[in-house]
Amino acid sequence: MYPSSGWSADTAYPGIFHNSEEIMASTPKASTDVPSIAAEAVLAKSDFDSTNATVVKGYDFNNGIDHHALLSSYTTCGFSATKFGLAVQEIIRMINKKLEVPVEDITDFNSHTNRRLSNCTIFLGLTSNLVSCGVRETIRYLVEHNMVDCLVVTAGGIEEDFIKCLGNSYIGAFNLSGKELRKKGVNRVGNMLVPNDNYVKFENWLMPILDQMLEEQNSQGMKWTPSKVIHRLGKEINDKSSIYYWCYHNNIPVFSPALTDGSIGDMLYFHSHKTSGLVLDIVEGLSFAVIIEIFSDVRKMNNQAVTAKHSGMIILGGGLVKHHVNNANLMRNGADFSVNVNTGQEFDGSDSGAPPDEAVSWGKIKMDATPVKLCADASFAFPLIVAETFARYQQQFDQRLEKEKSLPKKTA
Ligand SMILES: NC(=O)c1ccc[n+]([C@@H]2O[C@H](COP(=O)([O-])OP(=O)(O)OC[C@H]3O[C@@H](n4cnc5c(N)ncnc54)[C@H](O)[C@@H]3O)[C@@H](O)[C@H]2O)c1
Repeated sequence: MYPSSGWSADTAYPGIFHNSEEIMASTPKASTDVPSIAAEAVLAKSDFDSTNATVVKGYDFNNGIDHHALLSSYTTCGFSATKFGLAVQEIIRMINKKLEVPVEDITDFNSHTNRRLSNCTIFLGLTSNLVSCGVRETIRYLVEHNMVDCLVVTAGGIEEDFIKCLGNSYIGAFNLSGKELRKKGVNRVGNMLVPNDNYVKFENWLMPILDQMLEEQNSQGMKWTPSKVIHRLGKEINDKSSIYYWCYHNNIPVFSPALTDGSIGDMLYFHSHKTSGLVLDIVEGLSFAVIIEIFSDVRKMNNQAVTAKHSGMIILGGGLVKHHVNNANLMRNGADFSVNVNTGQEFDGSDSGAPPDEAVSWGKIKMDATPVKLCADASFAFPLIVAETFARYQQQFDQRLEKEKSLPKKTA
């Protein structure tokens, strides 16, 4: 019998297993009672060198309830638990690379973002639903302590952060009737509920800001890009529970190339109707400008990858965010570190489901990197990953941030 580790003998651990002819040649002869073919099949002798192999072992609760020890034991547990452990190790490699060089020893700034470079630029991509759910607080923690350098989020993940500053969402159930909810003006995101009133509050908050932005576009020739809009909204919200409040304060750029595919798009649409013909022109002009300025955001984003001393990618979910982070890293001939947490599978050829090795083939991850894909719902996996990685380095990150504040800033 092969060991029950779940390892792929031929690829993951070359040299441990010899080829089948060698194994069969050394198989003992069958006894007179057992057909030799059966004995050879069942009692085939192992040719397995376990010297450097990891033993499968889970957590022993006789040692008490120690969550860190429990999560540490996942590496040797097998299956997805082992992938969890490998993802933790890969992120710790990113963090160590970043912290390896003191903040004051790197004097370069990214010319597009005016953000001080570090020894490892960490890109974090996430789908909208992760802001709809409580992973929002985990993401807010990461940007509050300046632990990551760039966010890529789809539109829903931008607006729902602001909407949560204006009204709550609630736990519901996956099986609530859409018809009944519609009659009550309640929207469902998975097993969570968002009252429609929250979107009314969002409209009331956003419309005057859009008026102001329009005025700046007219009077100062301001060209709004998705990243500039998010930066501005992060300033306006002035609420420490917001992800984008902290991105604004710590100068962490946020990219959302499809910013209009959500409530912000609805609001821009309403805004175009509420205001005069000139404003309608300007909104049309805005979509024209967005075409140009999305290009400017692409430059800004790709430039962060190109100028990074080392680069790490943490991508939660698939779709746009996964590709956008990967593609930026193609511009530097691949990221040094990569962790994907998603539920996508590769059989349909989707980018969402593509394993990291496909990204290696495109030059989006370096050939000598050790990327990890954890197949899991990020709503439970990611807070646990952060508990085992970034949260354990909070003091170092806070000291860096304090130090950085005392250093000269680059002006725009
Ligand atoms: N709350 C929302 O989700 C919301 C709100 C408003 C608008 N939208 C819009 O819907 C569009 C599609 O959303 P999207 O691009 O953010 O992604 P998505 O929700 O379509 O997910 C893309 C893929 O990511 C993976 N994934 C998603 N959630 C995951 C999880 N919890 N754990 C692991 N893997 C997961 C799955 O493989 C999925 O197919 C976007 O344009 C967005 O702006 C979404």
